[in-house]
Amino acid sequence: MLKTEDIVKGFKTPEARWARFGPYYAMFPLDFAFNVVEKYSKKGDFIIDPFAGRCSSIYAGGVLGRQSLGIEINPVGWLYGSVKLSPANKELVIKRLKDIYSKRNYYKRAGELMPVFYKMCYCDEVLKFLLAARKHLDWRNDNVDATLMSILLVYLHGKLGEGLSNQMRMTKAMGIKYSVNWWEKHNMIKPPRINPLELVLKKIEWRYEKGTPNIQESHVIFGDSTIELDQIVKKAQKAGIKFSLLFTSPPYCSVTDYHADQWLRLWLLGGPQSPKSLKEQYKSRFVSTEDYYNLLDAVFGNCADMMAEKSTIYVRTDAREYTLNSTFEILMKHFPKHTVNIESRPFKNKTQTEICGNKTENPGEVDIILIQR
Ligand SMILES: C[S@@+](CC[C@H](N)C(=O)[O-])C[C@H]1O[C@@H](n2cnc3c(N)ncnc32)[C@H](O)[C@@H]1O
Repeated sequence: MLKTEDIVKGFKTPEARWARFGPYYAMFPLDFAFNVVEKYSKKGDFIIDPFAGRCSSIYAGGVLGRQSLGIEINPVGWLYGSVKLSPANKELVIKRLKDIYSKRNYYKRAGELMPVFYKMCYCDEVLKFLLAARKHLDWRNDNVDATLMSILLVYLHGKLGEGLSNQMRMTKAMGIKYSVNWWEKHNMIKPPRINPLELVLKKIEWRYEKGTPNIQESHVIFGDSTIELDQIVKKAQKAGIKFSLLFTSPPYCSVTDYHADQWLRLWLLGGPQSPKSLKEQYKSRFVSTEDYYNLLDAVFGNCADMMAEKSTIYVRTDAREYTLNSTFEILMKHFPKHTVNIESRPFKNKTQTEICGNKTENPGEVDIILIQR
């Protein structure tokens, strides 16, 4: 039988190999996701995560025999999640990779016209290949294209020598000006020469080496929970389905919008060439306290309509005052009969936001656990 320990520690099984698929800002530690699912649900239960991110909660649920449903508004998180729950056939992915690679030379001129950031980040061969992938991969509608695209997203930026880019962070893309200045200061304005076909082929071989994961029926929806949940509630009620575990981590108020951090990956998915315009598009919900409150209120309110009477609500959130107090208040409003347990998770090491220059005090995270037995 598959043991949680084998998945969270090694890479020996297909489930372990796909579990870490997709670097994502503020992702759950894998052992935490598996432990919560094991402790607070049993086989055959239904689990929901309305802020799924890269979908570790849903993946852990699916691997451990729970039917799990996630919703994620950011296409990067959604792609990682939907692909790891159901990766396409390896041979078809390789065929598509070769097909995209063969189109790269049509993008020579387009590559030359790209802003200097891109030319410092990627060598010509990689940039032409990425432009072809950006143009031709139908990642929204086709699982082979989604699988290839999500593999490209994983290796789009990271430590020098590990992916397609010049030296970069892996979970979060830094800004254009910052990156260019950094490469200049460190004498790294020339990107590494990489053959993208060879590199991506190697990554595909490694990922599929043990096969694909065996998952209990589980899905992640690409969309906004405040909209999607209306339909989900109706369908669940019609089918007589009740969820036993709500396991999530909502966005933290005023900390990040999850789109700016992923701006380069969003560019590959067809988004703008610079992070600025994304910020304007998505910022409001996580900066205005009123919008933030309304978001959590709507989502947890809808979820409450689908939870079994005896259920667990497990929410990991920011320990900073506004996020914590409003999350707590909203959960108490929608789950008044549950008993509450609060566990503090102060950060032992520097957080990613601190490392990236955010000097504001960060007391860590808090787990709010509501149980009704
Ligand atoms: C703290 S992160 C979750 C990280 C996740 N637990 C993981 O392990 O990757 C919060 C997530 O909520 C998503 N989100 C924010 N607003 C949303 C909405 N209205 N509907 C669905 N997802 C949303 C963000 O894009 C982000 O990925």
